[in-house]
This record gives sequence, structure tokens and C-alpha cells, in this order.
Amino acid sequence: MIDINRQIEQINWHREPYGLYEPIEYTLRSGGKRLRPQLALLGSQLFGGKDEEVLPAALALEVFHNFTLLHDDVMDKAMIRRGRPTVHVRWNENTAILSGDQMMIEAYRLLSRLPDDKLPHVLRLFNEMATGICEGQQYDMEFETREDVTIDEYMRMIRLKTAVLPAYALRIGAYLAGANEVQQQTLYDYGISVGLAFQIQDDLLDVYGDPATFGKAIGGDILCGKKTFMLLTAYEKADADTRTAMMAALNNQDMPPEDKIVAVTCIYNRLCVRNDAEKVIGTFTEKALQCLNHLPDNDAATHLKNLANSLANRTL
Ligand code: IPE
Ligand code: IPE
Ligand code: MG
Ligand code: MG
Ligand code: MG
Repeated sequence: MIDINRQIEQINWHREPYGLYEPIEYTLRSGGKRLRPQLALLGSQLFGGKDEEVLPAALALEVFHNFTLLHDDVMDKAMIRRGRPTVHVRWNENTAILSGDQMMIEAYRLLSRLPDDKLPHVLRLFNEMATGICEGQQYDMEFETREDVTIDEYMRMIRLKTAVLPAYALRIGAYLAGANEVQQQTLYDYGISVGLAFQIQDDLLDVYGDPATFGKAIGGDILCGKKTFMLLTAYEKADADTRTAMMAALNNQDMPPEDKIVAVTCIYNRLCVRNDAEKVIGTFTEKALQCLNHLPDNDAATHLKNLANSLANRTL
């Protein structure tokens, strides 16, 4: 298997103006799980494809993912990612916007290395994915100021902002390896379920993660008023008094951020929302695994099975 991490870290960003490219190098050499390119490769391997033939798409997907993180960190006012200051903190917001834009362009440049007969269809899939993320991110922001967001709306939002990327990574890999439409769709469905579980776990880790391992600041979602799985579940389970206390803490402009995080986390603890999140993560993981029963059984399938299980228990 191709060493995807090495491939990404080998991209040369030593170009002028350094102010544009250094933040890109900083981001792409700061670690990360490299989940999406790994999925593109596994999607292809599942159908006997060659790694080299998926590589341009795998790299494009990872660069695109990292681009979304630069803009997401501006939108979420996040200070730390992968254990390091975010680009808008280390440089400034304009840099995060423009270096992010350039990363998106680089992603399409990498994608354009695909053979002419494959490029148009992959481009269509890639664009569906990219538009999905923008739509999801828009809902994510709009939900911050709404108090009547339902779990169904939340599920739709995370499907767009998070799950479509792993799902299309797999689908693109499968398409490039010659999988048929039904096989591509089944693998896509696996990716959506894994992606939904992944975002709910991300919401959980934003409250209960260890910042040293998770690499992000804990409680950021609470401070932004994000309508996460944790918050919506707590709100649904809470009695009237607890709801009032929760809203009071969340809307209190004068409360120091650390106190706000503690107050809301205490309510989550009392209502055992972590347990609810873990159950739902388990259900989506199970759903993902079921998709694999309809697909070829080989080493790549074993990898995909292990991956779904390990992501459900991840700490980073
Ligand atoms: C972060 O994705 C954004 C979410 C969808 C939660 P990852 O957790 O895959 O981030 P890296 O690439 O491993 O840092
Ligand atoms: C991730 O949502 C969605 C995208 C980056 C597109 P989050 O905002 O929860 O991701 P993190 O927690 O900052 O990585
Ligand atoms: Mg964020
Ligand atoms: Mg976000
Ligand atoms: Mg998050």
C-alpha cells in the first residue's frame, strides 16, 4: 500500500509568496489521521484497483479536507488543531481564508492528474461532495442561533458537513477501480454511516476528549452554541428546570468561558448524554458493517471493518 502520509508530506510548498504557501505546508505537515485518502485507496483496493491510479484523487481529497479545516477554524473561532495553533491564530484570518482558497485550487489541480476518460465523472462526484460540505457548514452556523433544532435536522447537517467526504472518497476509489453502480452506492452508504458516527464521536470528544490526544481545545462547541448531538440530546432529556439552567449558562455573556464549559458539562454528566451518544455511534457503526456484507470479502474489506470499529472508539 502506498504511504499516503509520505505522499502528502512530500508535496513541495516552497514557493513565493511564502505568506501564502507556508501556512499550507504548516497544515499539511501537522499530522492528521489521513482518513479520507485511506478510504479512497481502500475503496479501490476492495475492487482490485491499483493504488497509483487513485493517488491523485486520494491526495486531492486530503488537501481539500485540510482546506475546509482552515475555514472551519475561522468560523468556529478554534485556537488549536492537531495540538498546534490554528492558521488564523498563528498568522491571521485573511491568511486562513486565502491559503485555504489556494488549497482548494491545489486539490483540483491534483484531481486533474486523473486520466481524461475518468476525470469528468470523478469531478462530478467531487463537486457533489464539496457542495455538500458548504451546505452542511451553512446549516451548522445557522443552527448556532436557533433554539429549536431537531435531531433530524442535526443528522441532515452532519451528513452534509462531515459524512459526504468519507462517503465520496470511497465511491471515487470504487469507481476508479471499475466497481458497478450498486457496489459504489453500497460502499457510499457504508461511508455515510461511518461519517455520521465519526461526527457524533467528534461532538463527544469536544466535551470529553483529552486535549493532549485530541489536539483541539475542549468545550469549543459549548462556547459557540453549536447544536451538537450532546447539546440536543441533553435538551431533549432535561426537565424544565434543567433546560432553563442550560439555556441560562449557554446564553450568559458574562460567565467566564471555563465556567460555562463546566456548567454545561455537569448537565451532560447528570443526564448521561455520553451514553446516548455512544449508543448511537454503535448503531451507525453496525449499519456501516452491514453494508460490507454485500461487498467483496478481501483484505480491504477487513481493513474497512476494523476501521469502522476503531473510529467508533477513537480518542483523536
Ligand atoms: C476533523 O476531521 C473534522 C471533522 C469532520 C470532525 P478529522 O478528525 O479527520 O481531522 P484530522 O485530519 O485527523 O486532523
Ligand atoms: C467539521 O465539523 C466539519 C468540517 C470541517 C467541514 P467541526 O467543526 O466539528 O470539526 P472540528 O471539531 O473543528 O474538527
Ligand atoms: Mg470546527
Ligand atoms: Mg465547524
Ligand atoms: Mg468538532
